[in-house]
Amino acid sequence: MALDKKFINQLENVTAQAALAVFYSIGKKDKIAADKAAVDSMRSELNKLDIQGKIVIGEGELDEAPMLYIGEDIGTKKGPKIDIAVDPLEGTNFAANNLPGALSMIAISEKNNLFHAPETYMEKISSNVKVNGVVDLDFSVKKNIYNLSDYLNKEPENLTVCIMDRPRHKEIIDELNKYKVKIKLITDGDVSGALLVTDQKYKVDLFLGIGGGPEGVLAASALDAFNCKFQGRFLFETNYDKIRAQKMGINDLTKKYELNEIISGDSIFCATGITSGDLVSGIKIEGNEFISETLITHKSSNIKKIFKSKRKIL
Ligand code: FBP
Repeated sequence: MALDKKFINQLENVTAQAALAVFYSIGKKDKIAADKAAVDSMRSELNKLDIQGKIVIGEGELDEAPMLYIGEDIGTKKGPKIDIAVDPLEGTNFAANNLPGALSMIAISEKNNLFHAPETYMEKISSNVKVNGVVDLDFSVKKNIYNLSDYLNKEPENLTVCIMDRPRHKEIIDELNKYKVKIKLITDGDVSGALLVTDQKYKVDLFLGIGGGPEGVLAASALDAFNCKFQGRFLFETNYDKIRAQKMGINDLTKKYELNEIISGDSIFCATGITSGDLVSGIKIEGNEFISETLITHKSSNIKKIFKSKRKIL
């Protein structure tokens, strides 16, 4: 079944209000305050919606997150059963230091169609090329690059790969340099990084690397609407992580998940800019109004758009 299109406007309002809430913390070097502003706003807006919502990707578990914790029921409890993934502030560092790319984001699906992801790292790959056997998480960097080069009929030196600037990616980056691939290094915000493959205007052919698992699930929702490829594999470092994952129903801890095992059926994704970045512009204030820009996707109605709105500051 498809999700009602009325949720698009409602969710766009949720992320726009959360982005505005963070706006006042931009550049104040306080990541916790910035995150809290986003979480408080998002929770209060979500509670106004006529849904029987459940947070499946959130701010952690009940003991560590008083609000928007995994398993929290949200909404008026009237209306459809909805699974919700939230990242009220993606890029806490960006917001706290007034750097480009902070976003407020949400994804929803019908109940049981959104993966209940643990808060661990995830190895990820995304690409505009969905054909099997071209790019794959199981392939070496070399194989991915040469396959993509053949498929797109572009020399490796004309391919661009986006990856987070982290010591854990040194080997991948060294390999990419060996094949003279152009590298777009990002310091944070790998949801945005994964989504740069969705449109040629971003000039990114492949996104690779290890980032947050919850961020992987959010990216998968938008990538599904763009009909792009995404694969993810959770990485469990500690025994505690492994036991927690097993409790969440993950038996094969080394499984490579295809996009539609992470998100199935219909989904809606909204990401509003807090500070301007690659995908959308940040919040602007005009008198007692604010302007926001949101990337919206809705799989079943094939909506993929950047939506600009102006609202009164309440
Ligand atoms: P936060 O907004 O929670 O700080 O996450 C930012 C982020 O860059 C994510 O986009 C990414 O998935 C994750 O952090 C990577 O984690 P780490 O900084 O530990 O490499």
